[in-house]
Amino acid sequence: MLPQWIIAKKRDGQALTEEEIHFFIEGYGSGDIPDYQMSALAMAIYFQDMTFGETAVLTDTMMNSGSVLDTSSIDAPTADKHSTGGVGDKVSLILAPLVACAGIAVPMISGRGLGITGGTLDKLESIPGYRTDLSTDEFLATIRECGCSIIGQTAELAPVDKKLYALRDVTGTVPSIPLITASIMSKKLAENTDALVLDVKWGKGAFMKTLEDATRLAETMVEVGTKMGRKMAALLTDMNQPLGHTAGNALEIVETIESLRGDGPEDLMTVTLELSACMLTLTDKAANLDEARDMLHGFIASGMALEKFRTMVRLQGGDPGITDDTSLLPAAEMQRDFPAPASGYISAVNAETIGKACIVLGAGRREVEDNIDHAVGVSGLVKIGQEVKEGDKLLTLHSNNPERAAEAEAMLANAFEISTDRPDEPELIAARISGDDRS
Ligand code: URA
Repeated sequence: MLPQWIIAKKRDGQALTEEEIHFFIEGYGSGDIPDYQMSALAMAIYFQDMTFGETAVLTDTMMNSGSVLDTSSIDAPTADKHSTGGVGDKVSLILAPLVACAGIAVPMISGRGLGITGGTLDKLESIPGYRTDLSTDEFLATIRECGCSIIGQTAELAPVDKKLYALRDVTGTVPSIPLITASIMSKKLAENTDALVLDVKWGKGAFMKTLEDATRLAETMVEVGTKMGRKMAALLTDMNQPLGHTAGNALEIVETIESLRGDGPEDLMTVTLELSACMLTLTDKAANLDEARDMLHGFIASGMALEKFRTMVRLQGGDPGITDDTSLLPAAEMQRDFPAPASGYISAVNAETIGKACIVLGAGRREVEDNIDHAVGVSGLVKIGQEVKEGDKLLTLHSNNPERAAEAEAMLANAFEISTDRPDEPELIAARISGDDRS
């Protein structure tokens, strides 16, 4: 078998066998197959797609390129959530401690910002002292003690994905449903949890720009997870406008703490509570979604969820005082309100433009090696449907650099649309996909 025969077969639109996929991916992982041949196969997959069977084999092979987390020392059902990424998406930070309150262990391995989408790890690293690089033993000990831990991808976990993802990023082969499925699911299945809930985002600020593509991605991931013995569910959620009122690392930690105190924005809380409720029902901690929602509201109202977050931060070396005093988080030198150019109803808040403006401010990376500025970003963002008067604040810009602030402001001028008629509220959760229905 030669790599070029396999590339040509996929180029011509034929399905690859299990043996061919193993040969190629294992060869790429070991270094026997070079980047140029892997790029050619990725591009052939991008254009010719893969059958469900091929995608499942690809996922399994990538998962087995590393080790699978041994969760046997955890005496509780385990569950995790994964988001395909968005602007202002701080759901994981609220959800992990919240779900842990129900007696579910949440071993969450998260990523950094990618393109315009923010990264959970970058947000957590704005907490002074917080370590995202725990060893596997420290990770498991944290989960045993407080029920949740959020860390970065370890070297042992799906190493072929790390290599392939970097290659896809520079060869125009990221937005392929089988390649995204294998990339996300190989890492998430290696966490070895009983249940996995997916937040598949669609819209201007997401990888999947249409609801149709996002639905196909969600269905494929749910089907792969179900086939591999996990209890699965997915929500299709709106990412045309940012989630909540903030985007930017420390600013999103502030909004997380407010949410855990019970003062979270409606859209952010709805997505968080619905994903969390699925985790409670999939692990049989609640009989149905209504019961799960009641339990979750109770964990926030009693202060238990905030306390869990505080404990997780402390156990991971962070300053737990930030939960009482958010001024301990990094803050930008300059804060400037961005005024509405006209009166009317907000009819669009472009998540992609806001995400790009945040990168310009320094909240995200232009190049992989870039350092980020944890303090910068936007807060007080208006939402679609809100009525404003000319000159009212549409957002507050937080910056440490006047030139970058001016560049971001010029971009933000195109981020909002204001209409004279009240627009329809966007549908936050467009669909739910359950693994049970499909198995
Ligand atoms: N996130 C991942 O981890 N992989 C992808 O391919 C896309 C988003």
